[in-house]
Amino acid sequence: MSKASAPGKLILFGEHFVVYGLPAIATAIEARTTAIVEKADKYFLEDNRPETPGYKVEKYGQQIDSVKRIFKAMGIDPNKTPVKINLGGDLVAASGVGASAASCAAIAAALNDYFGLGFDKEKLNEIAYEGEKGYHGVPSGIDNSCSTFGGFIWFKKEPENSTVSHIDLELSLPMVIGNTGITSNTSKVVEEVKKEKEKNPEKFKTIFDMYTGLVGDARAAIERKDLDGIGQLMGKNHGLLRELGVSCKELEELVDIALKNGALGAKLTGTGRGGLMIALVEDKDSRKVAAAFENAGYKSQITKIGANGVRVE
Ligand code: MEV
Repeated sequence: MSKASAPGKLILFGEHFVVYGLPAIATAIEARTTAIVEKADKYFLEDNRPETPGYKVEKYGQQIDSVKRIFKAMGIDPNKTPVKINLGGDLVAASGVGASAASCAAIAAALNDYFGLGFDKEKLNEIAYEGEKGYHGVPSGIDNSCSTFGGFIWFKKEPENSTVSHIDLELSLPMVIGNTGITSNTSKVVEEVKKEKEKNPEKFKTIFDMYTGLVGDARAAIERKDLDGIGQLMGKNHGLLRELGVSCKELEELVDIALKNGALGAKLTGTGRGGLMIALVEDKDSRKVAAAFENAGYKSQITKIGANGVRVE
């Protein structure tokens, strides 16, 4: 038997801006997906991950395609060497937290260990990326890189090969995730932002210029482990996202609650117009912020960012 685990991710800076080739920063979170590989008479996948209701059924066909791609990329024939794969862990399978990438990285690492293939992390990342294609067609690669390498990832979309680099530092920070309970549709929101940009090129240019300065400052603040600086820049990034029109009443309320309860910074994360937001907190304030979200009728989760990447357990 072999067991491996891999973390989920959050976008810290740059959702939407990343679509237009500006850099984004994402980070691995403490919540992980585990994959256990065992000998079986016939290939079989059992998915025991906690989920947002309906998520696993909706993704079932994509998951089958994804695992096939992983087997192929690793040179494993599940008909000749059948295994059972069991998925679990505490990462809730949901949109916005890199659930598919975490499962791909964990499966690749567990199979690597079980079959004694000796692939390094670079190769496991390539395999996880292959698996991600089963879910997302041609994904950017930021999610699987976060899951494989852990820590903080600097990502820039290029017309051909996007750049993904690992910001090399040991830094684990508490973060509270607030969930609006509204499922947002990424492709629809991205399309609407694009239309707005076409209508208001000058306004968007000003916002993009401001963001370009901000994301460089954010990288520097992360590298110097400046929590107050990171928090302030998260707030500024949220303000720019609001100007792009991707915030909403619920996200504004959650950000407001976080700041009133001692968060160092707060912003929406991912698509916006619903979905998730994140609040950077000191350890002592995490429960207070999470409780305040719950009291206002939202779901919350306390996690740590800068978590370790994929590993054999
Ligand atoms: C969604 O998690 C992030 C967006 O920037 C879309 C994308 O990068 O593909 C809104």
